[in-house]
Amino acid sequence: MIKRKQHNRCVTIGIIYIATIISQAMTDDPRFAEPIPNVTVALGRDASLPCVVENLGTYKVAWIHIDRQMILTIHRHVISRVPRFSVSHDNAKTWLLHVSSVQKEDRGYYMCQVNTNPMISQVGYLQVVVPPNIIDTESTQSTVAVRENQNISLTCKADGFPTPKIMWRREDGQAISVEKRKKVNVYEGDQLNLTRISRTEMGAYLCIATNSIPPSVSKRIIVDVEFSPMIWVPNQLVGAPAGTDVTIDCHTEAYPRAISYWVYENVMLLPTKKYGTETMENSYRAHMKLTVRNLQVGDFGNYRCISKNSLGETEGSIRLYEIPMPSTPPRATEMKSNSNKENSGKRNHSRHFNQEDQTKVVMVSSSDRDTVKAGPAYDSGVEFYTPPTPPNSGCVSIVRWAAPQIAAVILHSVFSDTLFLTQN
Ligand SMILES: *[C@@H]1O[C@H](CO)[C@@H](O)[C@H](O)[C@H]1NC(C)=O
Ligand SMILES: *[C@@H]1O[C@H](CO)[C@@H](O)[C@H](O)[C@H]1NC(C)=O
Ligand SMILES: *[C@@H]1O[C@H](CO)[C@@H](O)[C@H](O)[C@H]1NC(C)=O
Ligand SMILES: *[C@@H]1O[C@H](CO)[C@@H](O)[C@H](O)[C@H]1NC(C)=O
Repeated sequence: MIKRKQHNRCVTIGIIYIATIISQAMTDDPRFAEPIPNVTVALGRDASLPCVVENLGTYKVAWIHIDRQMILTIHRHVISRVPRFSVSHDNAKTWLLHVSSVQKEDRGYYMCQVNTNPMISQVGYLQVVVPPNIIDTESTQSTVAVRENQNISLTCKADGFPTPKIMWRREDGQAISVEKRKKVNVYEGDQLNLTRISRTEMGAYLCIATNSIPPSVSKRIIVDVEFSPMIWVPNQLVGAPAGTDVTIDCHTEAYPRAISYWVYENVMLLPTKKYGTETMENSYRAHMKLTVRNLQVGDFGNYRCISKNSLGETEGSIRLYEIPMPSTPPRATEMKSNSNKENSGKRNHSRHFNQEDQTKVVMVSSSDRDTVKAGPAYDSGVEFYTPPTPPNSGCVSIVRWAAPQIAAVILHSVFSDTLFLTQN
């Protein structure tokens, strides 16, 4: 009984509600229930714009692209010839305009219109965003060459929506010198001006275009800085005894890469049993080494290292001179000067060479024997001498002349002057 009463009440409420709706529909004009949202879509994707209309009755909904002044749809019919537009209706209040594979020209205001008298309408905006794209034809090509101390401008142009920002950085992470030698890791702008470019600025530069729409894109531009060869000779005078091996060296810088070689008495030296040549390259730098083995009288003189590229030629000169072989066994092995005293017992194979006082040269105590033997490959002429019971002077018992080491000591201590040679 109670149940029935409730049921009746529900039906009554329902009838009243429906009647209200019908009366509203009969009496009220169409109206928009909500605004059209602004829609943002990436180029090539699909988009839909909803138009929600109440009390449409027998009126019709039309969609218009204002920017093109084009009627797209009326009711359920597509009017536009552009096949990417279509319309759907959910059989209630919502009329959806669909745009498939959105193009840039689809950007703009869209109007939803109802043909009342006077007509009613509302508009929404379709934003089409475009990821950045670098325009190759308006940007610097991927490799450029410039002479040292000249100016060069690198350009990158990109399109996209919103307008992309361009940033520059060096691929190796080094700083970029811009405007009055200011150094920055990242430079922003379409154009990167490198003024009075130096060889240290050679390398790969990246321009990166971003506008918050992924993906960002970049272009790699290799900047080659060209200059004629330069040579730096660490030791211009090298003394070595006959019978030993000696290595002399030159440092060169050049770009484009240079052809480098050694010359002795106007003859180019090729690797043989007599000569060892070695060149270690590191970008525009090279370290040239020449080893002359088993020095003979005819080997002393002027050696030249020569470096040539398309922009020029430079040479460095090294004079190799003979110094007496310090060991004339067995006499010289007996050393009794005071200076020996302090040296005895020290495990130090390197000593400054002093031509006035040869007795100060290399001292090796007997306990160093094995160390010495394991050292330089050069082992001929090595003598170990055990003197008779040392007198009170407490002098060194064993002397050994390690010729290559002497040469090395001379290279690094006696002639420490260095010169930078250039052709200009
Ligand atoms: C859509 O964007 C326009 C400006 O571009 C603004 O005036 C309008 O209020 C926005 N509409 C909505 C629903 O956000
Ligand atoms: C390079 O740029 C600097 C600074 O802008 C200018 O002073 C100089 O004249 C330019 N050099 C050349 C060769 O254009
Ligand atoms: C770069 O150099 C060009 C000329 O080569 C000049 O027009 C431009 O203003 C310079 N840009 C900057 C940021 O200095
Ligand atoms: C060896 O002698 C050199 C030159 O006198 C000196 O510079 C170096 O420190 C010494 N080394 C040792 C281990 O005593």
